[in-house]
Amino acid sequence: MRTVDGPTGPGVLEDVPLPSGPLTVLRPADPDAMAPEPVAGSGHEEMHPPHWAHLWPSGRALATAVDHAGPARLGGRRVLELGCGLGLPSLVAARHGAVPVLATDRSPAAVAWVAANARRNALKVDTAVAPFDTADPIGDDRRWDLVLAADVLYGAAAADALTALLPRLTSRRAAVWLADPGRPETPRWLDDARERWTVRTRPLPHGVDLHVLRRRP
Ligand SMILES: C[S@@+](CC[C@H](N)C(=O)[O-])C[C@H]1O[C@@H](n2cnc3c(N)ncnc32)[C@H](O)[C@@H]1O
Repeated sequence: MRTVDGPTGPGVLEDVPLPSGPLTVLRPADPDAMAPEPVAGSGHEEMHPPHWAHLWPSGRALATAVDHAGPARLGGRRVLELGCGLGLPSLVAARHGAVPVLATDRSPAAVAWVAANARRNALKVDTAVAPFDTADPIGDDRRWDLVLAADVLYGAAAADALTALLPRLTSRRAAVWLADPGRPETPRWLDDARERWTVRTRPLPHGVDLHVLRRRP
């Protein structure tokens, strides 16, 4: 791995293997050395090294699922990612012709790294700072065909905010692909989601599940 400057600190370049060929991603060299940020804990926020600064198994697995979908299913599709962290699934969606692709996170630093990765890979990915609870600036924009999210269900407040947000982002034809490593909040979140969505689940590698949500008729 090569060490280079990143937008908010030292980074390393990692060649992430994907079925369509590797994608080189710039990620923070040492997340534990970065300034702590608030992270949702059980009932309250705690300060931790930033969660966005890792390429988590769920993000990697979701990116691989997006890669498998390929240009046939993604070309021209409007794709939004929530809680994107380093935004690997968004980069892959853009690689396969999704347009527009908007990667969002509540961390301004996270989306700065996504933007840097889009530039490095000559991909068109827009970015925005968008916490689930306020939903600014993305709320009530229902143009998205596909909403992606990987490993975002930790903390009841964030999970509930996501439940409320998704219908504000999606038309009746849209799908939500949520990759999750089995967080404690997930069973309750899925029970709530089933009131409005049909949910189909399939296993991805490394203990990650892909939950595909579609609006109930
Ligand atoms: C475990 S990380 C996963 C990052 C990335 N999706 C991946 O799988 O590699 C969780 C991400 O969700 C973001 N996040 C957590 N709570 C959020 C909230 N309330 N609104 C928006 N983003 C949030 C964090 O900043 C972080 O980037």
